[in-house]
Parts: sequence; structure tokens; C-alpha cells
Amino acid sequence: MIPLLSIRNLTKKFGKQTILHPFNLDLEQGKVLTIIGPSGSGKTTLLRCINALEIPETGSVTLGDRELQFNSKRKPSSTDLIALRQKTGMVFQSFELFPHLTVMQNIIEAPVVVKKTNKSEAIAKAEQLLMKVGLADKANFYPSELSGGQKQRIAIARALAMDPQLLLFDEPTSALDPELVGEVLQVIKQLAAEGMTMVIVTHEMKFAENVADTVLFMEDGKIVEQGPPQQLFHEPLHPRTRIFVSRVNDYVI
Ligand SMILES: Nc1ncnc2c1ncn2[C@@H]1O[C@H](COP(=O)(O)OP(=O)(O)OP(=O)(O)O)[C@@H](O)[C@H]1O
Ligand SMILES: [Mg+2]
Repeated sequence: MIPLLSIRNLTKKFGKQTILHPFNLDLEQGKVLTIIGPSGSGKTTLLRCINALEIPETGSVTLGDRELQFNSKRKPSSTDLIALRQKTGMVFQSFELFPHLTVMQNIIEAPVVVKKTNKSEAIAKAEQLLMKVGLADKANFYPSELSGGQKQRIAIARALAMDPQLLLFDEPTSALDPELVGEVLQVIKQLAAEGMTMVIVTHEMKFAENVADTVLFMEDGKIVEQGPPQQLFHEPLHPRTRIFVSRVNDYVI
């Protein structure tokens, strides 16, 4: 089967420091990859390279039928970068909602402004998405009037409003009070059940195990081990993985 996402020999440096060593990854449509690893191992940088928020030094990112090649001589065109970003929704640790816009305005902003979707169509779709994340009654609220868990569910609805082929999550629950974590994980689990292709960076180990088709453990910008959740969490092949998974505690959903 041809993967939806394919990363080949991706490298990224900040200054002289190499953050991602030649990195290779394939993800099939409808599959969920969770990424775990210590702080500073390059997880956020990898996600940001996948949707070209950071421009890698070398390598390629292929999403569906579009391949973006990176090298020092030639940068991809802005048209290609924008196309990749539009097909790749991103959900951040800190929500990144527009504080001066209502929930509805936050959700329809990109479809109306970037995709030129007709406004009433965008509103109808946003209403469906709000129902999906359990917040149909919050359309006219401002982000400051919502809990962290609600804000994150709105951020997910906003990402879905662009009909992404791939959703990227960067520690979607780590800014939340523990009692709000479950409601966000539940929405992500539902998306997984519906067949959304996702890459999720998380410190919630039980969740990483439960939701994933494949788990990837990375350290120092390299893949240490990847495989089915049962392998990574219960029968790791690499001693470093064993140490990492044995010392992280957890939230059970
Ligand atoms: N914009 C930047 N400029 C310079 N160095 C950066 C930048 N962003 C990240 N780094 C460095 O790259 C390395 C990897 O950072 P990254 O944020 O990708 O790690 P991470 O695995 O997401 O960590 P955490 O679990 O703490 O979020 C770190 O050493 C960090 O200091
Ligand atoms: Mg990070």
C-alpha cells in the first residue's frame, strides 16, 4: 500500500546543531502514529517540518500525490508550501486560538479567508464540527470564556474545518489540568475510530498505547525504535526504550 505520508532523509539544523538526523517515516492512510521521547529529542521540530512550518535542510516530505523536496540550493515555492500546510492540520499544546474572535469566527476564518469557502457553508460545517467535539453551545463564546479542555476541542474543530488529509498534534493535553485531559483524548480517539490519519506527540503513555497503530520512540533527533504499541510498551527491543517507558507514569482513558 502506498503511504499517505512519506518522509525521506529529512534533516534539520538550528545553527550548527543538528536536530533531526536523516529521518525516514511512512504512514498509511487512516493510521495513527504516536511519537514519544525525552524533552529536546526533536519531536516538535519533526512535526513542524512535516507541515513546513520549519524548512528542513535536506530530504523530502510527500503527502498524497505531492512531494516537497528540500535542499540548500532550492527552496520549495510558496505555492507548494501553502498547499502542504493546507492539507495538514496542526493542534498545538497551547491551543493558539485567536483571542479576539469567537469560537465560530475562529473555526470559519481559514476556510473563508484561505479556501474561499462560502461563509454560510463554512458556518454550517463549523456547527457540525462543534457538535462533533461536544461544544455546540459555545459558538458565540470567546476563547477566554472557555476551559483549557474546551479550548483544545475548539482548536481540533478549527483544524478539521480545513478538511486536512493529515492531523498533527503536539502534546495536545500537556497544558491541561488533569481532569480536563480525558475529554480531549476522547475526541482524538473518536477521530482515530473514524479513520483520520494522525501523528500525535504525547507524554500520555497509556493514551499513546491505546490510540496508536504504531508507536515511535525518538531520542537526539533519531528513531530509536518503532513498532506496534504492544512491542514498544511491553516488549521493547531496544534497552533505551525499555528505560524510557518504564519510568513514565500515566493517565488511563
Ligand atoms: N527555533 C529554534 N531555534 C534554535 N533551536 C531550537 C529551536 N527550536 C528547537 N530548538 C532546539 O531543538 C532541539 C529539539 O527541540 P524540540 O522542541 O523539537 O524538542 P521536543 O522533543 O519537542 O521537546 P519537548 O518534549 O520538550 O517539547 C532542542 O535542543 C531545542 O533547543
Ligand atoms: Mg515539543
